[in-house]
Amino acid sequence: MAIFTRLMMALTGVKHGKNLKLKGNAFIFNRRGASLALGNNVRINSSFLSNMVGLYQRSVIMTRRPGAKIEIGDNVGVSGVTVYARVGISIGENTLIGGNTKILDNDFHPLDEGARNRGEEESIACKPVVIGKNCFIGCNALILKGTRLGDGCVVGAGAVVSGEFPAGCVIAGNPAHVIRRKASAVADDNVDGADKTENENAEGADR
Ligand SMILES: CC(C)(COP(=O)(O)OP(=O)(O)OC[C@H]1O[C@@H](n2cnc3c(N)ncnc32)[C@H](O)[C@@H]1OP(=O)(O)O)[C@@H](O)C(=O)NCCC(=O)NCCS
Repeated sequence: MAIFTRLMMALTGVKHGKNLKLKGNAFIFNRRGASLALGNNVRINSSFLSNMVGLYQRSVIMTRRPGAKIEIGDNVGVSGVTVYARVGISIGENTLIGGNTKILDNDFHPLDEGARNRGEEESIACKPVVIGKNCFIGCNALILKGTRLGDGCVVGAGAVVSGEFPAGCVIAGNPAHVIRRKASAVADDNVDGADKTENENAEGADR
């Protein structure tokens, strides 16, 4: 049901695909001149026991200024998240985001106290966040501005993530670092490496 959420989505021009599942009332708000799109079969949990990890908050998904863009792919599931964009946040298909995770593409306030005290919104640092397909993000993670996670990454519970991580990494900690790479990603690297060697061999033969 979640009539309040659906009304706000309609009034602010949030696009969504088929079979949107809302448990509890999320706050999903698109600023005028921004875009916010949810794919097919997206699940957004917002009530305390809609995810048995226990949610501290309703999901908040919002574009904060004109030109900002949030794209959430097909079959993504989120629980008690904040996804807050001043420039852009994208989440690839089939990615699952654990309870109480926050994904922020900006610092909310300028770092410089003068700019902060003057309320200069244009001084707030922003960098897009890109989360690949088939990722799994543990509960209570913080994903900070500029983060890029390749396809199939796993993020540990409580991680504080900033930076770029290639496909198939398992990352954890504060600051999050790679604890291992999934066997499938290593196998893909080996195939790529084998191809490269063949090409290099071919180039070598031409010389
Ligand atoms: C990150 C995770 C997937 C790793 O699982 P795993 O591959 O089985 O790894 P292990 O448990 O063997 O731990 C490997 C190492 O990483 C460390 N580690 C594991 N998870 C960690 C975390 N969240 N933060 C910091 N370090 C972590 C372990 O202490 C261990 O360190 P060591 O090698 O120095 O002993 C898992 O620990 C995790 O955090 N899962 C998320 C659970 C969750 O939040 N689910 C969603 C609920 S809504």
